[in-house]
Amino acid sequence: MSSYHITTFGCQMNKSDSERIKGLLNGIGMQEQSDHHRADVVVYNTCSVRQTAEDRVYGMVKQLKALKRENPKLIAVVTGCMAGRDTDGKIRARLSDVDLFFPIDEMIYLPKKLSELNQELFDPQIIELSEYEHYLKIKPSYASHVQSYIAISNGCNKFCTYCVVPYSRGRQKDRPLQDILIEVQNLADHGCLEITLLGQTVNLYNPPDKEHFSKNNPFDHSKNGFASLMWELNQITGIQRIHFTAPHPQYMDDSTLDALCLPKLLNYLHLPVQSGSNEILKRMNRPYTREYYIETIQKLRSRKPDIALGTDIIVGFSGESEDDFAQTVDLYRTCDFDISYTAQYSVRSGTAAIRMYKDDVSKVEKKKRWHTMQHLMEETVLRKNQAYVGKNVEVLVDACEKGLCSGNSREMKRVLFRGNDSMIGTLQSVIVDRALEWVLYGTQIKN
Ligand code: SF4
Ligand code: F3S
Repeated sequence: MSSYHITTFGCQMNKSDSERIKGLLNGIGMQEQSDHHRADVVVYNTCSVRQTAEDRVYGMVKQLKALKRENPKLIAVVTGCMAGRDTDGKIRARLSDVDLFFPIDEMIYLPKKLSELNQELFDPQIIELSEYEHYLKIKPSYASHVQSYIAISNGCNKFCTYCVVPYSRGRQKDRPLQDILIEVQNLADHGCLEITLLGQTVNLYNPPDKEHFSKNNPFDHSKNGFASLMWELNQITGIQRIHFTAPHPQYMDDSTLDALCLPKLLNYLHLPVQSGSNEILKRMNRPYTREYYIETIQKLRSRKPDIALGTDIIVGFSGESEDDFAQTVDLYRTCDFDISYTAQYSVRSGTAAIRMYKDDVSKVEKKKRWHTMQHLMEETVLRKNQAYVGKNVEVLVDACEKGLCSGNSREMKRVLFRGNDSMIGTLQSVIVDRALEWVLYGTQIKN
């Protein structure tokens, strides 16, 4: 039996895509191999978000020469965002030991390409049975059957000036509603408790088969397919938690905010703001203002006062003055976020920003601003976490080591408590005894 090894870089969407690659390769009779030295096929599912992410891939691919000396028939595959954005062939040219190089949506051709390279290992007759019309139709081999990623769309139409995704993944393509409902129903039937909906602009979901929405769905699917989808998923028995990433602030309308109040939606929203300065938002081609963003958060808090909030921030974007940055700090305080994934801006080839603006904030200044944001975040989250002491939280246990169970609460807080292995994959009620920045310690409440 032939075997494969996959290395996944980047975001949850890439992790979900790798689950589809596994599903596809398992479907042609291959077996996953944890040691890349012993695999017949090695796959690198890459990320382009920053130069450092791509450099990591170049570094790993360097090992290929040695791997191929050990196994001259080894097939090396590179897919994901680096392959997607390589319109001028410059990335491909640096990967001479790689045999197959293709964007993620061409994953459907992978079995065929493998059999072209090695007919002994990949029987063309089996390969013919493995044809799919679109890669999102491939059934994933889920890493967890209790917590599953569900890609609902792929690609993006927004063209934020700093971002490679519209180039690497193409324009947004929404999955048919029926496919999603069948997939989630199936997962629920097999014990899945939590789903995370994925898409680059997840809340812009607009399915091609709206006739499958239920007649009694209270949301108007002609105006907001995403809110309507959340209602449908909320109806599925067995599913206990629904989460999504990443929404775009522009599409957080009242229906989406109302849908966030459905009982199974997590008590957490990750809403990337990127900057608190209107001038910088304009330069980033993020079509909203700080005032609109703050108002959206206020509307959300009036519906769900104790919701936990996360965001993404870029510091040191081209043209970001001290005053622009001060506005980001101010917005952070106003919104009182629980967590922020803050990045120091780095130019990416192929983006609009590299053509339009000068990268004029020094590295030292970027670092300084990053530290300011980190300190602010740590201070804020510690204060906010202390409010959980003495309260009950619901934890979906995903690990247990030496009698210490861990998992996320509905607010996406990491919670640790004494327990045992049998609790993995179950929901437990925990009373919080102590709160630190990134972890809440508690005691399980016996049922
Ligand atoms: Fe990139 Fe902007 Fe699309 Fe997000 S919305 S994937 S940042 S282009
Ligand atoms: Fe990276 Fe592509 Fe995700 S650029 S962050 S893997 S969408």
